[in-house]
Amino acid sequence: MDAEQPQRTVTLIVMGVSGSGKTTVAEELARRLDVEYAEGDDFHPAHNVEKMRAGIPLTDEDRAPWLHELADWIGNHERLGRSVVVTCSALKRSYRDLLREGHPSVWFAHVSADAELLRERLQQRKNHYMPASLLDSQLATLEPLEPDEPGVTVSAAGLPEDVVAEVLAALPPVA
Ligand SMILES: Nc1ncnc2c1ncn2[C@@H]1O[C@H](COP(=O)(O)OP(=O)(O)O)[C@@H](O)[C@H]1O
Ligand SMILES: [Mg+2]
Repeated sequence: MDAEQPQRTVTLIVMGVSGSGKTTVAEELARRLDVEYAEGDDFHPAHNVEKMRAGIPLTDEDRAPWLHELADWIGNHERLGRSVVVTCSALKRSYRDLLREGHPSVWFAHVSADAELLRERLQQRKNHYMPASLLDSQLATLEPLEPDEPGVTVSAAGLPEDVVAEVLAALPPVA
């Protein structure tokens, strides 16, 4: 890491499809960075949660209020100069552009895995409303993080601590 780089407020958005390990990795990142953490799933209106629980994929229209809630939360913390870690599947470029709009602190960590690994993890996961059956639609919707977007893509296949270390190595210095 470049010691000359000044520290700044960072909004670290851990993105990727369901089961990639966003929550696992983001919780540890927030601990390591000693910053506030938010679970993006908690910003969904009840209607969206019910749909996902029923195995019905969300539409752009469903996701709009959720993304705006998240963007407001990001803006409020950024204005206060508070770095945060937040999970959000942020599957489409347009969703990420919405979150970034007016928020220069946003930086993405795309946790990426193949369908087989994801299916395995989702089948093992307990106490979560997202059924493994929604994985195919999530993968079909996913537009991977692009080179002109701020952030890094890391493989989800390693141990959680390795995924975390890879993100921290790429992250700009956090104030
Ligand atoms: N790097 C990892 N290696 C092994 N299992 C993992 C890893 N990351 C997450 N898991 C497990 O996979 C499941 C999905 O992880 P989770 O963090 O809930 O993903 P997401 O928030 O992206 O849906 C959980 O049961 C979690 O314990
Ligand atoms: Mg999660």
